[in-house]
Order: sequence, then C-alpha cells, then structure tokens
Amino acid sequence: LTVALLFGGRSSEHSISCATAGGVLAAIDRSRYDVIPIGITRDGAFVLEADDPAHFALGSSAAELPVVTDNGTRVHWPESALDRTLRVVDVPGGTARSLGTVDLVFPILHGPYGEDGTIQGLLELLGLPFVGSGVLASALGMDKHFTKTVFQQASLPVAPWRTITAADWAEAPGMAYAALAELGLPAFVKPARAGSSVGVSRVTDPAELVRAMETALAEDDKVLIEAGLVGRELEVAVLQGRPGEPSRASVAGEVLVTGRDFYDFDAKYLGAAGIELVCPAALEPAELAEMQRMAIRAFDAIDGAGLARVDFFLTDTGWVINEINTMPGFTPISMFPTCWLQSGYTYPALIDELISVALA
Ligand code: DAL
Ligand code: MG
Repeated sequence: LTVALLFGGRSSEHSISCATAGGVLAAIDRSRYDVIPIGITRDGAFVLEADDPAHFALGSSAAELPVVTDNGTRVHWPESALDRTLRVVDVPGGTARSLGTVDLVFPILHGPYGEDGTIQGLLELLGLPFVGSGVLASALGMDKHFTKTVFQQASLPVAPWRTITAADWAEAPGMAYAALAELGLPAFVKPARAGSSVGVSRVTDPAELVRAMETALAEDDKVLIEAGLVGRELEVAVLQGRPGEPSRASVAGEVLVTGRDFYDFDAKYLGAAGIELVCPAALEPAELAEMQRMAIRAFDAIDGAGLARVDFFLTDTGWVINEINTMPGFTPISMFPTCWLQSGYTYPALIDELISVALA
C-alpha cells in the first residue's frame, strides 16, 4: 500500500507536525507500506520531502524546530476522484512526472488548514481515503467555542467560558473585563482555533488582560476566556473500532505541573522544566472507567473518526473536559502513543491500526 504522509502546514503548529512525521517515517512498517512524504510549507506549497526522519527531529529551542522549506519539487493532487495518481513537478519550468497511485493519505497536521476540516474536505472531494476525523469532527474539534457547545449538548461538563471576537475587543473591551470578573481568577485566555498552547496565557490579574488578548488575537480573531480549574490534568487516547466494534479508550496519562504556570508550548516540546508526564496515571478503576466513558462520548459527540486525545481536569467536584484533539501530537514521546503503549500497542502497531481502520 502506498501512504502519502502529509505534514507541516500553514498553522503555528507546523513544526510539531514535522516532528510527528519524523516519528512516523522512522517507525512505519516498510515491508507493508510505501511512503510518499509530502511537506506543506508555512505558505501552503505542497512539496516532496526527504524520506529522512532525522531531518525532522525536535531541537531544544524555538530556533531549532524542524520546518518544511520549498525545495521546488511541488506535489500535485489528482484532478478528480477518477484518478489517484500524484504528480510532482520541479519548478520553475519542469515537466510533471508521476509519483504513482496513492491508497491512503495520513494527514498528520495540527491546527488550522490541517486539523480543521479543510484538508479533509479536499481529500473527500478527491475520493482519497485518509486517517482520522472527517470534515465536521475536524472543524468542531479545532474550534474551542464549538467543541464546548457540542459537549454541553451531550451533557459533558466543560469549564465556564466566554467567547470574545476581535470586533468585540475593538468595540467593547468591557465585555472581556466583565467576563474575567464573572469567571474569576486565574483565567485562561485562548485562541479559539489553535493548539499546542500557542497563543494561550494564564491571567492572574485584570491588568494582564490586554497582553493576553493581543497574544490570542495574533492567532485567531476569536478568543475564549475560560475559568482556570483547580485539579489534576489527565488525558486519554481514543481509537475508533474496526467495523462493528466500539471505539476504545486507553489508560490515562497525567500532566504533573510541578514548577510552571501551566503546560505551555516550551514544556510540551522544548523540554522546559517544571512538567512531568506520568502514564499510566494513578486512578481508581472506577475513575478511569468514567473518564474513558466520557472520552468516547466526547469522540462520538463531535462525530470523530480514527483517533483523538481527550484532555480532562479531575476537580473536587468531578471530571471536566478541557478539549478534544482530532490529530493529537504523535511523536514517539507524545501522550497519545504513550497511552497506547501502556495499553498494549507498539508505536508501529498503532500506525498500522490507524491505517487499517481508515481503510476498513
Ligand atoms: N495540538 C497538539 C499537537 C496536541 O493536541 O497534541
Ligand atoms: Mg488542542
């Protein structure tokens, strides 16, 4: 089978996607799959990339993060659903040559233009099977405002929040201050459509709101102000079942915030101190069962497919769902594969399962 691995992309999580691609390129079973690595530059050009995992390792500073650069070998999608042939053209002036037919696309993309239904829509139009959620679930999961709205509808508890648009902030900033007063401190200010904590601030004083709003608005023109929760931060991974079988949830992982304000980008990817990941997390069997039940309910509530990671807080008054990620970070050290490792899958077997489910 030929798998086109799509990574990079136009969002602020470009490099995280590259790192995940590196992990998949290193681990995918080459006796079963031919891989076409297709990078998407930050500007949105599709280029044929080196099949070289080492090229995409995460460094230890923002300057060392892997990126897709435009190497001039542009990949062209089939013109219609009647054809599954990918072509590559060397620009400028090159002639097209075939890369062969593709059986499946693995869009390992995070954030807008990748995890939000846009690329999924393109692949649907072209009739190309792909790993993960479709248009609707991707769009819902990407937008924190609509994720929460759908979760509430499914009787899943979410943290109280207010949504403030760029226009609101420009015309009536008092709305944001009122939201902060109502929700209490600390609060989190988050872009509605972003991930990996990019653009997120923890606000402990109303004087910090201007900077937090500006940071979030740099990512998206829609921002959530959310009540900060006190509790344990736990995550669980979901895999869609094969046809006729139910979806499954893994053991839980826990993020221990020991010496930091919160689980921010630097802690997630640059090895900054003050965070510890524990998997499996210490939970009573009944607590884990409840968390798994809610994770699958959340997955179904957005009409998820393939995979997801669902993030929770366990507070004094019970579980609260923070968010769902329809294409969670998938580097070998990320929580999604780690949770499945502890639930009986190797990293290559997990890739295999995702592909098998997508083609089933
Ligand atoms: N958005 C990042 C990649 C995650 O959810 O893991
Ligand atoms: Mg997210």
